[in-house]
Amino acid sequence: MDPQHINDYDQQIHEAAECLKENQAVAFPTETVYGLGANALNDEAVQHIFAAKGRPADNPLIVHVADKMHIEDVVTHIPDIAHKLIDAFMPGPLTLILESNGACASNVTAGLSSVGVRIPDHPVARALLQACRLPLAAPSANRSGRPSPTSADHVYKDLNGRVAGIVDGGQTGVGVESTVVDCTGDRPVILRPGGITKEDLESVVGPTDFDAALLNQKEKPKSPGMKYTHYAPEAPLWLVEGDLEFLQSQIDQLRENDKRVGVIISEEHVDQIEADEVQVCGSREQLSEVAVHLYSALRAFSTDTIDVILCESFPEYGMGYAVMNRLKKASTSVITQDK
Ligand code: TXA
Ligand code: MG
Repeated sequence: MDPQHINDYDQQIHEAAECLKENQAVAFPTETVYGLGANALNDEAVQHIFAAKGRPADNPLIVHVADKMHIEDVVTHIPDIAHKLIDAFMPGPLTLILESNGACASNVTAGLSSVGVRIPDHPVARALLQACRLPLAAPSANRSGRPSPTSADHVYKDLNGRVAGIVDGGQTGVGVESTVVDCTGDRPVILRPGGITKEDLESVVGPTDFDAALLNQKEKPKSPGMKYTHYAPEAPLWLVEGDLEFLQSQIDQLRENDKRVGVIISEEHVDQIEADEVQVCGSREQLSEVAVHLYSALRAFSTDTIDVILCESFPEYGMGYAVMNRLKKASTSVITQDK
């Protein structure tokens, strides 16, 4: 079956569920980003995901299930802290790392004794999980290294011809991936910041740590995927830490050297910057809005028209923390203004 966009949801979900039951890989929307799903219980099905994405085999996948009961199908037990987090935030943009009971195919967990599980909060994802009655392993539906897809069109551009189908559910809501929280120790540890903030987690379970690798780049991340290059746009991305005058001076210098410069900037600052192409990513006052637009802004620049992309920095709290985590990973350099 060729990748297709069918408008009738029931028919689309039915066809996608049939493909999944036949152990093929199908892309579908979640509330965070599009996922590339396959039967998490079958090794061969999961292998289609790795092949389509070009994903390194040592990077484990998140298992998506319809409800709390089905989390129990793939883990040894649910610790107290995890119960609280599930009840507070699931369905929603949160992934918990729990002890695996070995039910999932071994390539899902990449040989780890733990498994990442989440209950997506998107009507299409939920309908699909119910229709296929399978736990679905699903990483973001991009080619490895590219920005995650927030529309079916992004998925089509990356995976056309490499997957059995794409269920088109329009733009996703949150825009960055789920927060990954390790619940295998005494205290919850955030391995990847995302749609649920540290502040949100702490309001339910108290003190929560960041994985040391998020605070210090020299540390080895506990989440295997965090060590890879990620979210890279076509042209090199420079993250600029400084005021608008500094940003403009960097743009001007590049343009004097015949570079065509693209800029990603908040709506508050767009009128104060002059460049070859500009992508507005929402308001600095609403960092969740910046998250929604981030990946489509990164994907909007083509090397046909742009040589370098400069992006302003955002405050590192709330959703700004996830936004800056993605921008640091996507960037080839960080340019800091001398104070
Ligand atoms: O929002 C999301 O989480 C999206 C949607 C599609 O659900 N999925 C997603 O999956 O972002 P992916 O594969 O792109 O990222 C999964 C992250 C990786 O960093 C991976 O290393 C980590 O979760 N992970 C998965 N299982 C793990 C485990 N057992 N221990 C530690 N990290 C794990
Ligand atoms: Mg990904």
